Amino acid sequence: MASLPIRPSKFPYFHRLTRLLVRYDLLILQKHEDHDVVDDDDKGYYSLAPPDRYVVKDGPGNSMEDQDTFFFKAWNCLGDWFKNEDPSAFYTAYGDYFWDKLSRDPSSGNWFNEKMARDSRSFMNVLIGDEFKDVFKGLASLVDVGGGTGTVAMAIAKNFPDMKWDMFEKIPLANAVLLKSILHDWNDEECMKILKNCKKAITGSGKVIIIDMVMENPELDDESVQAQIFIDMLMMVFLGSKERNKKE
Ligand SMILES: C[S@@+](CC[C@H](N)C(=O)[O-])C[C@H]1O[C@@H](n2cnc3c(N)ncnc32)[C@H](O)[C@@H]1O
Repeated sequence: MASLPIRPSKFPYFHRLTRLLVRYDLLILQKHEDHDVVDDDDKGYYSLAPPDRYVVKDGPGNSMEDQDTFFFKAWNCLGDWFKNEDPSAFYTAYGDYFWDKLSRDPSSGNWFNEKMARDSRSFMNVLIGDEFKDVFKGLASLVDVGGGTGTVAMAIAKNFPDMKWDMFEKIPLANAVLLKSILHDWNDEECMKILKNCKKAITGSGKVIIIDMVMENPELDDESVQAQIFIDMLMMVFLGSKERNKKE
């Protein structure tokens, strides 16, 4: 790793990138004594896998939406980012933080919010289904922090009518605070700040409900692990943040 032309502060991020590339068959991790690039755990060295199917015309990933150009710019800066101290490849691309840029660029911001809302809609049946409904039972109020278009909040309100909703409260105090797909956007220090603010906002014996994926869950099938590793990479590229395992 030390022989790579990247900043030492980026070594942990590089490990996550190689994890993704191996998972997607673009790199092969080989065990060998005589190696050039060694991964963190000194498991072996990486070599290029035949990448043909990723570059052929009409291959997977070749259908571009307009907004893809906006987001691809960050991916294209990944190589530069490994050599600088910017907080994310997105920052290297735009000289701006992801959320700030989206708030200044309404078309990309709306596009992103709609994608998040779509993700949330497909997830709601699980959230209010039998497995998790006790999490929300008995709560009189809940604040959905960073709730985007409010899809999740509205679905919970509909299914738990006892909950009172005041979306226009400036400093909302509540029984519970919901952080769905929020903590994975931030580094550990920032998460601590967010969680401390949540604690202040909770009245009585309330709770913080965190919904994020859990990495390294041994119960997951291969396809889900692959999706998780890719989403972890999105976090790295756009926000310089990460998906976490249970311990983290
Ligand atoms: C990944 S999205 C999750 C949205 C929603 N919770 C969901 O699961 O569909 C993160 C959200 O955090 C919001 N956000 C970013 N920075 C924030 C801040 N400083 N304070 C409050 N919300 C913020 C973004 O606007 C965005 O809507």
